[in-house]
Amino acid sequence: MDRVLEGKVALISGSAQGQGASHARVLAAAGAAVVGGDILDEKGEAVAAEIADSGGSALYTHLDVRSNEDWAGAVALAEERFGRLDILCNNAGIVRMEGVGEVTDEEWDEVIAVNQTGVMRGTRAAIPALRRAGGGSIVNTASTLGLKGAWGYSAYTASKHAVVGLTKSTAVQYGEDNIRANAICPSSVDTPMHWGEMEHFKDNPYFDFDKWLGDNHAIPRIADPAEISHLVLYLCSPMAKWVTGAALSIDGGFMAG
Ligand SMILES: NC(=O)c1ccc[n+]([C@@H]2O[C@H](COP(=O)([O-])OP(=O)(O)OC[C@H]3O[C@@H](n4cnc5c(N)ncnc54)[C@H](O)[C@@H]3O)[C@@H](O)[C@H]2O)c1
Repeated sequence: MDRVLEGKVALISGSAQGQGASHARVLAAAGAAVVGGDILDEKGEAVAAEIADSGGSALYTHLDVRSNEDWAGAVALAEERFGRLDILCNNAGIVRMEGVGEVTDEEWDEVIAVNQTGVMRGTRAAIPALRRAGGGSIVNTASTLGLKGAWGYSAYTASKHAVVGLTKSTAVQYGEDNIRANAICPSSVDTPMHWGEMEHFKDNPYFDFDKWLGDNHAIPRIADPAEISHLVLYLCSPMAKWVTGAALSIDGGFMAG
């Protein structure tokens, strides 16, 4: 892989597994020094150690995206240990599948706190450091459910639409600082989150996931996390230097149909 991110420093939330771990591996292979943060400390440490063992630069820090203190610590760690911060991937997220008629206040608040407010907290914490670096790239993980509705998923869909809106406002306000902000909108990706959702559907006689994939995706399969990481890599690279404020579907054609 070309080392298009040589000399760059990236902070990735939700780096312990799934897409965040994949983003950490792919950005590090492209030359970035990576600070990963998560609440699953043992797994997060293991991902950072694996990257370091294979010759990359990576550190792990405990980062609950609901905590301003954790965000401040993660940004400070990037600057202290690697000298700068150029890239923020607001990747951490959780899913709950209740419809608006059933969702409890607690479930709603939990999803909004992580998926929506967590992205704002991370962006707010990182912008001064990105400015000090002379600009940078923010990649916010939304979802196809940031672009359309779905049966159930009320808080999740609301939070991901908010991520798209916040991304656009960030892009509009900070373009003059050479800070770009984009949202990525994946359909189903092969991660622990996806398989948790499948557990939820397993006793539902009205929902057949494979049929849904086939009926709704031009390319009827779930994504490998690395396929999502390659879009993140592009958005963080100089090749995307005029791409900002976009909400990019990466979904095997789900939004096209
Ligand atoms: N898997 C999919 O099908 C899919 C599709 C579209 C979008 N997404 C989004 O992609 C992103 C990554 O999800 P994934 O598929 O890798 O899921 P995942 O559950 O495998 O990984 C999510 C990571 O976020 C971490 N996390 C959760 N709460 C956190 C918190 N408060 N602070 C810090 N970290 C926290 C988890 O510990 C985990 O490591 C999420 O924003 C998710 O909503 C996933």
